[in-house]
Amino acid sequence: MKKLCYSAFVAFWSSIATLLALQAVATDEAPDTQAGAAVISLEELAVHNSEADCWMAIEGKVYNLSDYLPKHPTPASMLVPWCGKEATEGMRTKGYGRDHSPMAWEMLQTYEVGTLADGASAD
Ligand code: HEM
Repeated sequence: MKKLCYSAFVAFWSSIATLLALQAVATDEAPDTQAGAAVISLEELAVHNSEADCWMAIEGKVYNLSDYLPKHPTPASMLVPWCGKEATEGMRTKGYGRDHSPMAWEMLQTYEVGTLADGASAD
């Protein structure tokens, strides 16, 4: 009985130690994966140029719009030419000279993945 109590005691504290160790590892990784922390070059941006993998740089920030494309009010084909590029003009003109609504600009913020590298802006 004494032995059983001892084993249970050891098992309990080992599981606590494992949990603490896992948490420490997870916390260590967090800063690298935080949204907005990455600085992205035009070359890296250009890799994400398809409907399934679509990033756009808009006014100095980079957005991963892959999940948003199917939700956009027009067919995705309207946005795909801007994927992998500096797309401020597309966002500001919708292709016919009219800016998106404040609601659209607010929604855009939720897709931010980083900042466009200094000097990489197209304008
Ligand atoms: C950059 C390329 C883009 C182009 C060419 C484009 C074009 C358009 C067009 C033609 C419309 C429908 C016509 C109209 O409402 O006037 C529209 C509506 C809309 N788009 Fe885009 N769009 C782009 C990117 C985006 C992005 C990145 C978002 C948000 C994450 C977005 C959100 C919306 C919303 C919410 C509407 C409804 C009307 C509004 O709120 O302005 N669009 N867009």
